[in-house]
Amino acid sequence: MNRQVLAVLLLISCSTTAFAGEQFDIEVTDRAVVQRCVTKGLPRSIAVGMPGGFNYLFDPVRCRLVSVWFGDFLDFRPEATGRGGQPLVPLGVRRNLGTAEVPIRIGAEDRIPEAVEFAGYRIEPATGIPAFLFAVDGVPIEQRVLSFGPGQVTIELAFPTPGTQPRLYCMEMTAVEQCELSDRLEQPAAGFVRIPATESWAQIRLQLKPTKESFVRQQPTTNGRLLYAVHCMSCHTLDGGKRIGPSFADLWTAPRIVSRNGQLESMVADEAYVRESILKPQAAIVKGYENANRMVDITQTLNEQQIEALVAFLKGLKPSGS
Ligand code: HEC
Repeated sequence: MNRQVLAVLLLISCSTTAFAGEQFDIEVTDRAVVQRCVTKGLPRSIAVGMPGGFNYLFDPVRCRLVSVWFGDFLDFRPEATGRGGQPLVPLGVRRNLGTAEVPIRIGAEDRIPEAVEFAGYRIEPATGIPAFLFAVDGVPIEQRVLSFGPGQVTIELAFPTPGTQPRLYCMEMTAVEQCELSDRLEQPAAGFVRIPATESWAQIRLQLKPTKESFVRQQPTTNGRLLYAVHCMSCHTLDGGKRIGPSFADLWTAPRIVSRNGQLESMVADEAYVRESILKPQAAIVKGYENANRMVDITQTLNEQQIEALVAFLKGLKPSGS
């Protein structure tokens, strides 16, 4: 794992796993994860990954729920391998629930708000679940988005100060199969929910239409250098420096003394040797490394083409002398 990735890992309070491909997934475990990020078309957005595989994107500029998706959370690869500020890729099939405008209206559904102020979010300590805090035309609002089942999305709005005008919530309905409202809320038109001035709390429960699309990961990478960086670099350097295992500098065609079944054996680090070192790391142990941490069995994580790519990468390394 390279330094950039490590730095990123320390910055976010959740675990990132390097998968067998170019993905660096942010994993959500038993606490919600709130990740400020850049996504395509939204230079500032906040992604929330909830335990149980429900995720959503919130736009703090318009204070709107943009989209939701079920399953894995975010692919962190663009941040980890790029120069930063690259769009992150939400995984899964995204369902759009946002409008282009500010979804909350005060007084009437066609009154586009003049003032929208985002004030951040409050994290519930036990679960990590965020409530977004903002004010629309001076009316303070707290919004939470939850899911209680497959394809189910619950939008919860709380109004901490009593109001004088009804509030309206406006959303995109193409992905919605059914919409249920808490008491005293009504739907004056499709996509609009009217919350009376007297209500301090509102819940909008959406059941999404099933989707025909299914989520397919990108092809695992066959970039040898990237595979090296993710799977081998923690133990093997390229510059002659010693880590847990021998350096890869000057490896190719170099003579080796290995111990095989307790017998010392002279070998040349050719393709067959390197391949065996990767596929059966315990078969022949490089002299001097008998007591080192054992090399991991990589065949569980990498496919054949990826191992080919790694072998080609090692073969293509320039000898350190030149
Ligand atoms: C946990 C540390 C560790 C990781 C991760 C690791 N190795 Fe190793 N590797 C070792 C050790 C220790 C040795 C020396 C002992 C032996 O021969 O098994 C070694 C030996 C080797 C050798 C023989 C080197 C020589 O100088 O003769 C090759 C080739 C090799 N590893 C390739 C890889 C590749 C490719 C990866 C990534 C896919 C990798 N290793 C990941 C620890 C590791």
